[in-house]
Amino acid sequence: MLRRLHLDQPASFAFTPDNLAWAEAQITKYPEGRQASAIIPLLWRAQEQEGWLTRKAIETVAEMLGLAYMRALEVASFYFMFQLQPVGTVAHIQVCGTTSCMICGAEDLVAVCKEKIASEPHEVSADGKFSWEEVECLGSCSNAPMAQIGKDYYEDLTAAKMGELIDALGRGEVPLPGPQNGRYAAEPLKGLTTLTEMDSGKHQYNASVQLAHDIGDTVKRIDGTEIPLLAPWQGSGKTAKKPAAKKAAAKKPAAKKAAAPKATAKPAAKAAKPAAKTAKPAAKATPAAKASAASTATESKPRTMSAPRKSGADDLKLISGVGPKLEGVLNELGFWHFDQISKWGVGEVAWVDSRLKFKGRIERDGWIAQATKLAAEK
Ligand code: FES
Repeated sequence: MLRRLHLDQPASFAFTPDNLAWAEAQITKYPEGRQASAIIPLLWRAQEQEGWLTRKAIETVAEMLGLAYMRALEVASFYFMFQLQPVGTVAHIQVCGTTSCMICGAEDLVAVCKEKIASEPHEVSADGKFSWEEVECLGSCSNAPMAQIGKDYYEDLTAAKMGELIDALGRGEVPLPGPQNGRYAAEPLKGLTTLTEMDSGKHQYNASVQLAHDIGDTVKRIDGTEIPLLAPWQGSGKTAKKPAAKKAAAKKPAAKKAAAPKATAKPAAKAAKPAAKTAKPAAKATPAAKASAASTATESKPRTMSAPRKSGADDLKLISGVGPKLEGVLNELGFWHFDQISKWGVGEVAWVDSRLKFKGRIERDGWIAQATKLAAEK
């Protein structure tokens, strides 16, 4: 199946303030230079907010992670969990069609979806409320047949039950997820035969159903206010920073980065002596060696330009690892041409590195070697 961006795309995308705070907190989970690893949770959050992944949403996430748009699109179009076209405003229903579910009646559930929603998968119903698709095993085989509706599993389904669920959702109700035949979880239909003492410690519902019941977000578009935003990896029990301040900072990368050189001017001057000691080896070093030494080097401001030369700026995005966002940052810092980058020494790399959101990127992606080659080709 071809997975492409939908033809009709909205003009813009923005995370809600709470979702933005959540997304920024996720990025801090990953080591310096590896923030791109946050792409799946961020794309997922964008989808939870909008129902599907728009081109603008994919581009927004790419920019937050300093990735080329293409890299983010590759991820979004690879994983089938990402919807690349509009879905029903109430719910997108995913019917498992793999072996266990198929032999237990998945085809009957699909027939109900065809009758009540649309004849083709991924087609939105006439009232715009629903869409459906058949998916591979969702890991709930012992409760076959089943379907994921919104964020939760509805299990032990029958065609009649599926019809009732769709009707109820259409009326604005949210039926309780989980087994629909009275089972608590995945125990035998006739009750527990082992570990029977478990019966006494039961909550009203099994853990995932209890969560769905308590949070009530089964088919809700997530705006980030559903549960408190915790970021325990930033320190025990820490709540993530409020979005407002971060958002303001994100909006003004140029101002923030422009102010940075002043802030670091003193420590650089203090450390002038050690830098002089290491000046000789650095001069002889290869571009790769220069970059790897940058993490411990004293910063030295490279020559910058207030504007590109008359011939026009180079396309810095040709450097692997530089996306539109990073190119903009480099331009704001005064770098427009490959040959400027190719001349950075250890101190210059350290200076630029300290002004990028993701430290270590210059070294990791070999910018200097790439820029040297691109400048020569030019
Ligand atoms: S086969 Fe349907 S959940 Fe596994």
